[in-house]
Amino acid sequence: MTVRIALIGCGAIGTAALELLREDAGLSVAAIVVPADAFAATKDVAARLAPGAQVVSAVPAEGIDLVVEAAGHAAIEAHVLPALQRGTPCVVASVGALSAQGFAEKLEAAAVAGKTQVQLIAGAIGAIDALAAARIGGLDTVRYTGRKPPHAWKGTPAEQGRDLGALTAATVIFEGSAREAATLYPKNANVAATVSLAGLGLDRTSVRLIADPSVTENVHTVEAEGAFGNFELTMRNKPLAANPKTSALTVYSAVRALRNRVAALTI
Ligand SMILES: NC(=O)c1ccc[n+]([C@@H]2O[C@H](COP(=O)([O-])OP(=O)(O)OC[C@H]3O[C@@H](n4cnc5c(N)ncnc54)[C@H](O)[C@@H]3O)[C@@H](O)[C@H]2O)c1
Repeated sequence: MTVRIALIGCGAIGTAALELLREDAGLSVAAIVVPADAFAATKDVAARLAPGAQVVSAVPAEGIDLVVEAAGHAAIEAHVLPALQRGTPCVVASVGALSAQGFAEKLEAAAVAGKTQVQLIAGAIGAIDALAAARIGGLDTVRYTGRKPPHAWKGTPAEQGRDLGALTAATVIFEGSAREAATLYPKNANVAATVSLAGLGLDRTSVRLIADPSVTENVHTVEAEGAFGNFELTMRNKPLAANPKTSALTVYSAVRALRNRVAALTI
């Protein structure tokens, strides 16, 4: 059996995923959903990487077994919610969107209405399996620290009252809950939201954001403690050339989620 996929978004993640999925016998990208202004560029990508896919502005009502989102909050509203309500399972990459008040509940309700499931990928962060399993035994504290070079925080509240270019030592630019972090730093919300949803939730997950002139990569650290014991995980992710804000690991995580839909043995 071949799983027919509708891919929502064909930017850095979508394109890199299409490249990796070309050889997958059990998965076929049947449709690529993008806004009208992205049709021409997406048709070029489709011709090269997914010749059988139609480029469309909405998920086709028939002939789709699985929807994969890599496009953002608005696309989840426009395409994922209706697909779930129709009963089509969905895989979501823009997990940061679930930081918006009531949005996670909205997605869950749509999946319940369609008697299907929505899967959030781990994306750029690891140990989500350990964290979600540890939650079953009870978690006491979960802390996420995001460390980036100072220039990566340009255009954020981190610029208020400080000259990012003049920093000579690691500087904490935010400390608070994951919910507050998502409001103030929405473009950095994916990892904090994923850690929160797997662990203690947006209000009880502590977030620290650091501008560090001594690092060149984006460094993510998760520390968790609970009945299971404790762990500390640090990731130094390489960015995608097509979008330096997105880690290559996010693409691999999405492809893994899709392959696990058809693999006889999954891990
Ligand atoms: N979970 C994670 O760890 C993680 C990591 C990185 C990025 N992301 C998220 O994944 C998403 C995609 O990232 P990217 O780097 O590929 O971004 P990108 O900007 O390169 O590509 C976005 C694509 O979505 C399309 N798009 C935008 N609005 C749309 C809509 N309403 N309907 C359909 N398509 C629409 C664009 O045309 C484009 O093709 C972002 O929301 C980003 O926040 C998640």
